[in-house]
Amino acid sequence: MLEIELCGIKLTNPTILAAGVMGSTAASLNWAYRSGAGAVVTKSFSKEPNEGYKNPTTVAVEGGIINAIGLSNPGLSAFKKELNQLDNEVKVAASIYGSSPGEFAEIAAEMEDLVDFLELNVSCPHAMEGCGASIGQDPELTFAVVKAVKNEVSIPIITKLTPNVTDLTEIALSAVNAGTDALTLINSLGPGIKIDLETGLPILSNKVGGMSGPAIKPIALRCVYEVFKVVDVPIIGVGGIVKFQDVLEFLFAGASAVQIGTAIMYQGLEVFTEISNGLEKYMLENNYSKVEDLVGISHKI
Ligand SMILES: Cc1cc2nc3c(=O)[nH]c(=O)nc-3n(C[C@H](O)[C@H](O)[C@H](O)COP(=O)(O)O)c2cc1C
Repeated sequence: MLEIELCGIKLTNPTILAAGVMGSTAASLNWAYRSGAGAVVTKSFSKEPNEGYKNPTTVAVEGGIINAIGLSNPGLSAFKKELNQLDNEVKVAASIYGSSPGEFAEIAAEMEDLVDFLELNVSCPHAMEGCGASIGQDPELTFAVVKAVKNEVSIPIITKLTPNVTDLTEIALSAVNAGTDALTLINSLGPGIKIDLETGLPILSNKVGGMSGPAIKPIALRCVYEVFKVVDVPIIGVGGIVKFQDVLEFLFAGASAVQIGTAIMYQGLEVFTEISNGLEKYMLENNYSKVEDLVGISHKI
């Protein structure tokens, strides 16, 4: 009943592990999938290893957490080894990033035979110069990155966007016009800051970081709602989901699937089955036979 088709690929349910949370090893990706995720996304990785920022890289705040990990990752060849060890049935997206269209395309080409989808991270709010949100805040750069990857691979491309822009629909349309097959909305919001009352200094080593968790849900929902009106590709909603009612809101706003990140830190991987069970019960009680019928209900009036 919960099965969906995303860019032609069947998922057992619409809940997906978000990039950056438990996505660094085959063992943790397999574990998330076995725990009930309909698909999993790797931590974002680049061509070369990247150490990222020094600790502390995450701090809890009211309504969520702020993180500035700095896209730390062991690089493409290490990730290829992990992806080779995934269980056969795992539906997986490789989240990749780079500093130029060519770099994105180079990594993408190496992923074609290893993963079901690519997720282009052009949206990290605390990436180094030239990466992350500095691409996704510029419609032309976004177009160039998506186009370069589209020319390189035939697997579905998902572009993950940042809410930290004046007009998200403009960026979304750039990605769609360049050939993205789906959009993920949104990456963490920000940057935000948390001050240590003892020292008076920012807690994170990078000082500022991206905000995630329940406090950002209304903004993520607004992004999905707004972009749904102008694009014809599926949207994956993400930001602050902790329970099935949150998923319903995202589906109604126009998401075809959802991702879950921060909730896993508080609720564990059980969150996937809890949400799926709640969603299934809701659908049975309200006479819905497929998830698709819930998508975009907010726009039907
Ligand atoms: C600790 C942490 C690390 C993250 N790392 C990445 C990442 O590597 N790539 C990416 O696209 N998003 C990353 N994100 C953003 C999440 O995938 C997600 O878009 C965001 O946290 C909002 O969802 P949530 O409120 O369910 O966590 C990270 C989030 C957190 C909390």
